[in-house]
Amino acid sequence: MSDIRTFHARRGRMSEAKSEAIRTLLPVLGVPAGPLDVALLGGRPVVLEIGFGLGHATVEMAQTEPGVGIVAIDVHTPGVARLLTEVHELGLENVRVVHGDAIEFLRERVAVSSLAGIRAFFPDPWPRARHHKRRLVRPDLVALMASRMAPGARLHVATDWAPYAESMVEVLDAEPGLVNAYEGAAPREERPLTKFELAGLDQGHDVVDLVYVRV
Ligand SMILES: C[S@@+](CC[C@H](N)C(=O)[O-])C[C@H]1O[C@@H](n2cnc3c(N)ncnc32)[C@H](O)[C@@H]1O
Repeated sequence: MSDIRTFHARRGRMSEAKSEAIRTLLPVLGVPAGPLDVALLGGRPVVLEIGFGLGHATVEMAQTEPGVGIVAIDVHTPGVARLLTEVHELGLENVRVVHGDAIEFLRERVAVSSLAGIRAFFPDPWPRARHHKRRLVRPDLVALMASRMAPGARLHVATDWAPYAESMVEVLDAEPGLVNAYEGAAPREERPLTKFELAGLDQGHDVVDLVYVRV
């Protein structure tokens, strides 16, 4: 189960500028190989953002929460190039970018009880029943996430896919290491609007945010 990937393999040619951004900026604004050193972000509490997409929300969070260190991870190469370029151009000191699978990263490189939070906004909904096993918010991966969070750390997820929201609540309520920070859904105001969210809102979807705290 845990080796079932949560993302699509996407192809496509990258522009020379994007390839160049990966080549030159990842060594500076990425995370050095080996175990994640949470001191990397100047002693700030470290929050992992899983699946940042194009990274618009990442940049906004970094600007509005300068005291928080964000390690942003995605498998999608053009998005990684885009975020690296923006972090570099804006001179943001509280963001590091990882190009890879968040599950492998959490399992192999993040110490138990070390993160101040995990955020995953609009993870792929995998609407077909035969694909539900690919969802990020599923029992084994939620247990992995909870294990890497320090006591008091917050897991914040959001979706515009109502059946996924229901399943998220079931899975998160069943994880013994987490408790809901609210009665049901969390307030929307806690995070920036994301690109996928805008697309969902355009289609008339309701958005559900959920925040759970590590006990
Ligand atoms: C639907 S998009 C949402 C992007 C962004 N958070 C937003 O709201 O605009 C989901 C993103 O999660 C990424 N993703 C899925 N599984 C992942 C994994 N295991 N590790 C890293 N990124 C992942 C995908 O590549 C994609 O960019």
